[in-house]
Amino acid sequence: MKGIILAGGIGTRLYPLTLITNKHLLPVYDRPMVLYPLETLKNSGISEVMIVCGKEHAGDFMNFLGSGKQYGVKLSYALQSGAGGIAEALSLAEDFTDEEKVAVILGDNIFEDNFLKDIELFNRGAKVFLKKVEDPQRFGIAEIKNSKIIAIEEKPQSPKSDYATTGFYLYNHDVFDKIRKLTPSKRGELEITDVHNMYINEGDLFHGFISGFWSDTGTFESLLKTSNWVEKKKKLKK
Ligand code: G1P
Repeated sequence: MKGIILAGGIGTRLYPLTLITNKHLLPVYDRPMVLYPLETLKNSGISEVMIVCGKEHAGDFMNFLGSGKQYGVKLSYALQSGAGGIAEALSLAEDFTDEEKVAVILGDNIFEDNFLKDIELFNRGAKVFLKKVEDPQRFGIAEIKNSKIIAIEEKPQSPKSDYATTGFYLYNHDVFDKIRKLTPSKRGELEITDVHNMYINEGDLFHGFISGFWSDTGTFESLLKTSNWVEKKKKLKK
């Protein structure tokens, strides 16, 4: 299976840090953020990866990661201009995926878990991974009934649960047909949550749970919290 890291967007929630570089190149403790999702894909058995990155700082991504050889992966790049959303960023990787199933990770998501087993067992539809959170208004939130996700709501004001859809997804190749049917949301983006709701309507969305640490590092608080977690984990290993 091929992997895609979505590292586009303009990171407005992290201004002024993101005025001078891309969010995904900011430090998380001792390494640029993008190395963490790259490592998650690698630890999940994926060695061919496309990075969809923001146009403004694309040169910095390439200077830093190059061919990927140093990290044990083969890298390709696609450029996203502006803030068209996660689903739009994913659509840019269609040719790269070559009709295969794909694993997608958001460039600001840091996971302790890997997805080796899930990838091995994945055979149809789409699969999302849930984690209980304290601030459900920030995420795509799953409504669960009889152990099935019946709807996902993006950044709900009155969340129906506290289970967030984290930024790791598995898709069959038909995800690209679904993206073509999307229309922009209120925030003017093509939402990945709308893609997931299409899979739900077809009875084809599956889910798992994240057991280890997970963080979306898109805010100052979560960036700091994640750096602190990485530091603690490193000290424990010594
Ligand atoms: C995105 C998704 C959201 C998901 C989150 C996970 O939100 O739209 O559904 O829960 O990533 O990190 P964003 O952080 O882009 O606002």
